[in-house]
Amino acid sequence: DTLDPTSLRTPIVAVLGHVDHGKTSLLDKIRGSAVIEGEAGAITQHIGATAVPLDIISSIAGDLVDPEDFDLPGLLFIDTPGHHSFTTLRSRGGALADIAILVVDVNDGFQPQTLEALDILKRSQTPFIVAANKIDTVPGWDPNEDTPINATYDDQTDRVSSRLDESLYEIIGNLSDEGFSADLYWRVQNFQRNVGVVPVSAMTGEGVPDLLAVMMGLSQRYMKEEMEIDVAGPGVGTVLEVKEEKGFGTTIDTVLYDGTIRADDTLVVGGMNDPIVTEVRALLQPRPLAEIRTESRFEKVDEVGAAAGIKVAAPELADAMAGAPVRVVRDRDLEAVITEVRAEL
Ligand code: GTP
Ligand code: MG
Repeated sequence: DTLDPTSLRTPIVAVLGHVDHGKTSLLDKIRGSAVIEGEAGAITQHIGATAVPLDIISSIAGDLVDPEDFDLPGLLFIDTPGHHSFTTLRSRGGALADIAILVVDVNDGFQPQTLEALDILKRSQTPFIVAANKIDTVPGWDPNEDTPINATYDDQTDRVSSRLDESLYEIIGNLSDEGFSADLYWRVQNFQRNVGVVPVSAMTGEGVPDLLAVMMGLSQRYMKEEMEIDVAGPGVGTVLEVKEEKGFGTTIDTVLYDGTIRADDTLVVGGMNDPIVTEVRALLQPRPLAEIRTESRFEKVDEVGAAAGIKVAAPELADAMAGAPVRVVRDRDLEAVITEVRAEL
């Protein structure tokens, strides 16, 4: 019985798109479906992220996701704001992500932050799919809650389905104008070469099974090797945000993409001038919603493993920078870790 120290981590999925196109609603829908399946506890809310394990994905996606076909543990979604002033948060999310969902409102089509998000994905060479959202708002739409797209599409009148087709082909045309060859996802053979468009409604859940199935399939097929990590190794991550937190001082909201962070680790964090060397004071995760009224909003944990979102409280973080690297020292040479962090700044 050999102990394999490497293991497959959860792919990090950034959700990008123009303001109000439905990014947060889509994640709420996925969380809500899990609650209905009676498995709310299985979805964990991380700092800045939502982890959805494979068995939940499979219960939402039904026949479209057979857990036997996958060995990746699930998906970790990072929501990003669509408002034009949040460019840096979008770039950070996009750069961190292994894979992305670009959300486009079918009625509103391409908008400035849709194009901006596309640029970010292009620059970071992040594979992505397009969620053509709000299909339920097509005039005359007859909703079929939580069904795969083909089932509900076949149930629409010709007039309604051709209205949807028009909007979808406009999105495909816009993608082509930006240099991406795209098609409806069921026609795409090679997701590395072509962008798949998935019609969805975050409101009714139509197409959400398809969206999850495509994301799982894409990750399994093209990302698997990149997901192999040393699970017990020293953690590596990126600072999403630097925040003051009552009772904890300055904290860094971090997305961990390799190894682990422990409550007694020494960290090197990218700073305004120089790398910061500091000791973890507390690792904080959000408490489940039900407990939000009681005392603290956070719960202290002893250890987290990639991929995860975690708030780190530590001294000396005042000069920490959003977007900067975070590295755990543990049994490594401190100077070597400092050099690595400096090289990434
Ligand atoms: P920002 O975070 O501000 O960029 O917006 P967002 O992309 O997260 O959009 P959000 O999920 O907050 O949704 C914006 C509005 O659109 C809300 O009023 C939602 O209820 C509505 N909405 C989102 N998805 C759908 C959908 O599929 N159908 C309908 N009818 N409304 C939707
Ligand atoms: Mg939002």
